Amino acid sequence: MKIAFIGAGKVSAALGLYFKNNGFEIGGYYSIGGASAGKAAQLTSSTHYSSLERLINDNQLIWIATPDDQIEKVVQQISHLEITGKTDKLILHVSGVYSLSILDPLKVTGYQTGSAHPLLAFGDPVVTQQTLHGAWFAVEKGEEDNGRLNLLLESCGNPTFTVTPGRKPLYHAAACLLSNYLVTLMDASYRIFERSGLPADKVREATWPLFESVVRNLNEKEPKEALTGPVKRGDSNTVRLHLESLRIHMPEMSALYTLLGKETVRLSGNHSLEALFEE
Ligand SMILES: NC(=O)c1ccc[n+]([C@@H]2O[C@H](COP(=O)([O-])OP(=O)(O)OC[C@H]3O[C@@H](n4cnc5c(N)ncnc54)[C@H](OP(=O)(O)O)[C@@H]3O)[C@@H](O)[C@H]2O)c1
Repeated sequence: MKIAFIGAGKVSAALGLYFKNNGFEIGGYYSIGGASAGKAAQLTSSTHYSSLERLINDNQLIWIATPDDQIEKVVQQISHLEITGKTDKLILHVSGVYSLSILDPLKVTGYQTGSAHPLLAFGDPVVTQQTLHGAWFAVEKGEEDNGRLNLLLESCGNPTFTVTPGRKPLYHAAACLLSNYLVTLMDASYRIFERSGLPADKVREATWPLFESVVRNLNEKEPKEALTGPVKRGDSNTVRLHLESLRIHMPEMSALYTLLGKETVRLSGNHSLEALFEE
């Protein structure tokens, strides 16, 4: 079973390296501009395809790993190609928001289809392929599936789960909240630290042990038990001072602090502070 990728960005470069290190054969990469496919092919000692048709003819398990907005276009392109042995080929996408049905035009022409979204934030491919071990995948398989997706992920030791049909955008909103918006939240916090006088070049280093202790607590306990701080303790004056200080020095941050404060009151179950966030 030779594996190939259409799109050669962060996700497919790391997945290719990961599958290769788990003993699978990587056929190669195709990308619209070509440069990223060249790099990913070099990284995985595989072929840089300049023809989509050749990539599909040469390989059996083909991942579409382009930006989400390009998937429909790629599907249209594939459905017009001259391919032999379509029923033997499994085409997958890695999007967290689209369901399997986006591949239906391929299924009706004979291909097997599936989708597998890795619940991970991808960065440098060499670093990411190490963290891929243990990553969970949200999978969907067509009824024509012959078990190749299961075989691949089981062999690599990756747990899988399914999302309720029609709820993939909801699932992906949760993933974005956890990964993308956590980054935005860290950035907001860094800016407030800086305004309080912490040197900008020291903020990350100085706050990292705090961040790590939060992640450790979350790894060991449910969110309600992992929560620490003034809302949980019911220290209303502390929260009042935060709100006053933000209003004076960084009013643009007040809405974010208040919204998260309200949600934290709900989580803590300590409703004595509710009125503070309504003022
Ligand atoms: N990033 C994450 O953390 C993450 C996590 C889970 C799932 N995903 C999913 O993974 C997929 C890819 O994301 P990514 O972050 O890897 O994207 P990316 O780094 O932006 O890479 C996109 C790749 O797609 C290629 N491409 C764009 N349009 C194309 C087209 N029409 N035909 C062929 N190739 C095309 C680009 O080629 P050129 O370089 O030649 O322009 C590039 O190689 C998305 O569906 C995303 O939702 C991402």
